[in-house]
Amino acid sequence: MKIVIIGGSGLIGRKTSTILKSEGHDIVSASPSTGVDSVSGSGVAEALTGANVVIDVTNSPSFEDRAVLDFFRRSTGNLLTAAKAAGVAHYIALSVVGADRIRDSGYLRAKRVQEELIEAGGVPFTILRATQFFEFLDGIAGSGTEGDVVYMSPSKFQPVAADDVAATLADIATSAPKNGAVELAGPEASSLAKFIQSYLSSKGDTRKVIPDPDATYFGAVLDKDGLAPVAQFIPGRTRFEDWARSS
Ligand SMILES: NC(=O)c1ccc[n+]([C@@H]2O[C@H](COP(=O)([O-])OP(=O)(O)OC[C@H]3O[C@@H](n4cnc5c(N)ncnc54)[C@H](OP(=O)(O)O)[C@@H]3O)[C@@H](O)[C@H]2O)c1
Repeated sequence: MKIVIIGGSGLIGRKTSTILKSEGHDIVSASPSTGVDSVSGSGVAEALTGANVVIDVTNSPSFEDRAVLDFFRRSTGNLLTAAKAAGVAHYIALSVVGADRIRDSGYLRAKRVQEELIEAGGVPFTILRATQFFEFLDGIAGSGTEGDVVYMSPSKFQPVAADDVAATLADIATSAPKNGAVELAGPEASSLAKFIQSYLSSKGDTRKVIPDPDATYFGAVLDKDGLAPVAQFIPGRTRFEDWARSS
């Protein structure tokens, strides 16, 4: 099967490509460095010619509200137009748990726009919404740091290993389109503050995390459900402690 991974040079793109190649699929890893720019549309039609499946794991270079909205709107529009023209049988995109619920985050609003374009795009699809990757915890900790202290929301949090995200995308790529969204979260839920403290302690980082209900998540106010799934989800296999020990 020919599977095109847009954003194939990124964290999830590389891992997904490795799994699908090991299963014998014909993988095209596309990104600006291979001449494929989903925002301008340059190289997209050529990359998608003959593709059975497209996996969109691109990310915006800027997380500023307007820039990220512009990125996902243009990129998704170009990818869907090319996918339809190429007769792609399954269009898969990676979104974020809470994109349909958390309206206070400009990034998540942009991800919801991406989802809506796919839902209306006329190509059979599956959206995988994942929670935050373990690999992203460092960035989250940095966002709340003031000196030796990290202010973090006590809202519910259930991050997942990037390896489990890639494995789930690979499973989806070899299954029938769901024409809907499925959610993936880690096997353990706690609070954002507790997870970040565990992460820092596992690295020998002496910063102290203060649970603070007023602390925002990259500017967004979280409710008690926070960034965790509120309905059925696929549980990731990797426990945080095992990931931290091996990374
Ligand atoms: N971080 C999290 O915790 C989290 C949680 C849930 C879902 N997600 C979603 O996961 C997705 C992938 O995340 P990631 O961490 O794997 O991203 P990443 O490592 O930053 O990789 C992003 C990829 O997008 C490519 N890209 C950027 N601009 C492009 C363009 N104009 N045209 C084509 N490709 C372009 C990059 O190519 P270059 O290498 O050439 O720049 C790179 O391959 C995102 O959509 C994000 O919303 C993230």
